[in-house]
Amino acid sequence: MKKQKDTSPESGKLPDTVAVLVLHGPNLNLLGTREPKHYGSSTLAEINLALAHRAAAAGVLLEAFQSNHEGALIERVHAASTQGVRYLIINPAAYTHTSIALRDAIAASAIPFVEVHLSNVHARESFRHHSCFSDLAIGVITGLGSEGYLLALEYLLRRISVE
Ligand code: DQA
Repeated sequence: MKKQKDTSPESGKLPDTVAVLVLHGPNLNLLGTREPKHYGSSTLAEINLALAHRAAAAGVLLEAFQSNHEGALIERVHAASTQGVRYLIINPAAYTHTSIALRDAIAASAIPFVEVHLSNVHARESFRHHSCFSDLAIGVITGLGSEGYLLALEYLLRRISVE
């Protein structure tokens, strides 16, 4: 019988397949210095590290990808479909309000996702109130700063643990 790789959290080893892909849209590479009153002081690297550690503690492989280019985000979603990614956490940033193309890519992938925003988009300019993604999302977390990503991950880890 083929020996199964022990990927239980206790084993310290992670599975090879990315289960949770975190997608960050344009300008989020500037977190830490970008408009801290809206987006806080954590850098993207700090957020990604906290997410990867939390996922690893649950025996789940998490990868994060940021791009300032719509096409690159779309192609990462296409790749995710063929890689067996189970869930997305996505902050589409300004593409939230404009990108039917990224919405279509996620819809085509059929990968369930949680939409996250650092700031409370509903308490800001009216052009931020509309999202091209929210009606497709499992849920939306907005206004809880970088903790929003971790709360989204907690929820997905719970789902993964009962699947
Ligand atoms: C954002 C809100 C968007 O309106 C904005 O364009 C962003 C970040 C947020 O995380 O609060 O870039 O998605």
